[in-house]
Amino acid sequence: MTDVAVITGGASGFGRALAESCAAHGMNVVLLDLDGERARREADALAAGNGVETMGRKVDVADGPSVAAAADAVAGRFGRADLVISNVGVQLFGALDRTTDDEWRWVLDVNVVGSARVARAFLPFLRQASPGRLAFTSSSSVLDPAARMTMYQSSKFAVWGLAETLRLELADDGVAVSVVFPSGMLSRHLETSEAAQPGNLRRAIAADDDFLAMHASNPTMAEFLATPEEAAADVIDALLAGAPYVITHGDFVDAIDARTTLLRHAAETAR
Ligand SMILES: NC(=O)c1ccc[n+]([C@@H]2O[C@H](COP(=O)([O-])OP(=O)(O)OC[C@H]3O[C@@H](n4cnc5c(N)ncnc54)[C@H](O)[C@@H]3O)[C@@H](O)[C@H]2O)c1
Repeated sequence: MTDVAVITGGASGFGRALAESCAAHGMNVVLLDLDGERARREADALAAGNGVETMGRKVDVADGPSVAAAADAVAGRFGRADLVISNVGVQLFGALDRTTDDEWRWVLDVNVVGSARVARAFLPFLRQASPGRLAFTSSSSVLDPAARMTMYQSSKFAVWGLAETLRLELADDGVAVSVVFPSGMLSRHLETSEAAQPGNLRRAIAADDDFLAMHASNPTMAEFLATPEEAAADVIDALLAGAPYVITHGDFVDAIDARTTLLRHAAETAR
């Protein structure tokens, strides 16, 4: 039986590039996305180009019944899911004192609770797979943060925390859990984040001074740009190998060292 990969946010950008790689590995692929029409179109293209079976379906990861219905549809069509990649993320910039509770709730509900919903819905498949692989798309901005992204970066830290916890919870089930940290990608991310905003929250995803403040706080962030295809190139191999962490591109050695040194100092002080 052919393995099945399920990818949320699979109709565009990084998710679509990961889907191409899964198909190239011979997996059947399910693309779940808020943009259902695009998900179906891209699934058809993936099938035609790779000779695998695919399914594209509208899903809103912020909606529990929608995610549960997607899991049912995967069960009905394929009866299995071996690799599940929770990849949806929405972006919303802003200095903390300009953000609202409702904006926080939206970003956290989609990025964090949405990831938990997707993982929960597909856990029964992953526990039966041999081996099961569960991956979450975080962001390199948690490795080396920048200003004006409090909501987004908080959510991506939480996605990382979710993965760390599930790794422990699922170890006895043989399900490997990975966190993927992409850096800047030339995708439609700001456009799709704006399209996904609930009507009562509509505003520009970022103000001009947000980009300036972000860049001033972390000038290297904008240097690490890649296409989604370049970023995704080696990710599926790493996930299939059960790698706990995958950094797609960029140079984060000094940033990680600097944080580790400070944490180590705090730990030694406490010891
Ligand atoms: N683009 C970047 O620079 C960058 C950098 C680091 C991390 N990331 C992360 O990579 C992931 C993929 O982003 P991308 O750059 O490929 O963006 P993208 O816009 O190309 O793809 C995101 C997809 O998610 C879908 N989506 C949005 N809300 C949804 C919802 N509620 N339910 C289901 N689908 C929904 C969109 O329709 C879109 O197709 C995200 O988690 C993002 O935060 C992106």
